[in-house]
Amino acid sequence: MKNILVTGGAGFIGSNFVRYMLQNFDYRIFNFDKLTYAGNLENLTDIENHSNYKFIKGDICDKEFVESTIKENKIDTIVNFAAESHVDRSILGSREFVVTNVLGTQVLLDAAKNLGLEKYLQVSTDEVYGSLPEDKKEIKFTELTPLTTNSPYSASKASADLLCNAYHHTHRLPVLITRCSNNYGPYQFPEKLIPLMIAKATDGEKLPVYGDGRNVRDWLYVEDHCSGIAAVLEKGKIGEVYNIGGNNEWYNIDIVKLILEKLGKDESQIQFVKDRPGHDRRYAIDSSKIMRELGWAPKYQFPEGIDMTIKWYMENEKWWREVMSGEYMKYFEKNYSSKIK
Ligand SMILES: NC(=O)c1ccc[n+]([C@@H]2O[C@H](COP(=O)([O-])OP(=O)(O)OC[C@H]3O[C@@H](n4cnc5c(N)ncnc54)[C@H](O)[C@@H]3O)[C@@H](O)[C@H]2O)c1
Repeated sequence: MKNILVTGGAGFIGSNFVRYMLQNFDYRIFNFDKLTYAGNLENLTDIENHSNYKFIKGDICDKEFVESTIKENKIDTIVNFAAESHVDRSILGSREFVVTNVLGTQVLLDAAKNLGLEKYLQVSTDEVYGSLPEDKKEIKFTELTPLTTNSPYSASKASADLLCNAYHHTHRLPVLITRCSNNYGPYQFPEKLIPLMIAKATDGEKLPVYGDGRNVRDWLYVEDHCSGIAAVLEKGKIGEVYNIGGNNEWYNIDIVKLILEKLGKDESQIQFVKDRPGHDRRYAIDSSKIMRELGWAPKYQFPEGIDMTIKWYMENEKWWREVMSGEYMKYFEKNYSSKIK
């Protein structure tokens, strides 16, 4: 039985991945998370007592604690989701992005090397490839697209990817990298486009849309990202990069209009605001490699995925209201602090 350390498993994608792995594999999952503002253990209440699951509060930058956790729990694989992940926050201040995304990754790579782990998977992003022209729909990011980073967030993620490559080439560390497009689905922090718009539309507030709203993103349902990572973990060729995407490009403004329509709200709620500095125009992923080589394909098409997502936010209003009010931060204190030595 494998013992997998999932770092950042209390965040949006990490928590979906923890659940996906427990439901589909017989592995022990150790969720190692610092619980920053983006980490929320309420994302995992349904599986917190699962016999193959354990939560460990920790910082990936803490070398001693990372190494002792790996030894104590006989970890053989790391899947690293832990990151500062919001581009807007990286524009306001990039230090935390460099510390967690770059130095934290370096600590994990060193631990994996020193302790002889079987596999290390780095969860990266399509944002490392920069921006595509809006009018050349035939051009998409492939695994060979040069890294061209435009935000401090993407620069920190690309730096981590380069370190992963270096550890593979220099130390023969068994590294895999996945680069995924924009995710949507349950448990996404309502600072990101889709849940933010759902929340604001529900409350009858203005929906802020950057610039002209014609930035294009390629949206993938979060469970499909999780199944892609699992496929790479199981069958991926060591040292390789795999793009994961939905082949599903949307203008931001059209996503916002769709949400308003689905919620029976009026487009007069839309408010265009000053564009994000350095805002990438278009992302689009070519996922043919993972589909061809590993047999992965997304299970959910967008019309189904967006309906499931909106329904989830409607049925879990308490969850996102507590996130927005900060109430969720008390969950760890209330439920875990007494359980930790
Ligand atoms: N959200 C997307 O659309 C998307 C797309 C492609 C790739 N990614 C990548 O996937 C990963 C997860 O993204 P997300 O949207 O779930 O992010 P998130 O912000 O929701 O979650 C990040 C998690 O990492 C934890 N964390 C932060 N710093 C830590 C540290 N120093 N030590 C331990 N834990 C720490 C946080 O507490 C949180 O639980 C990130 O690496 C991101 O770059 C995200």
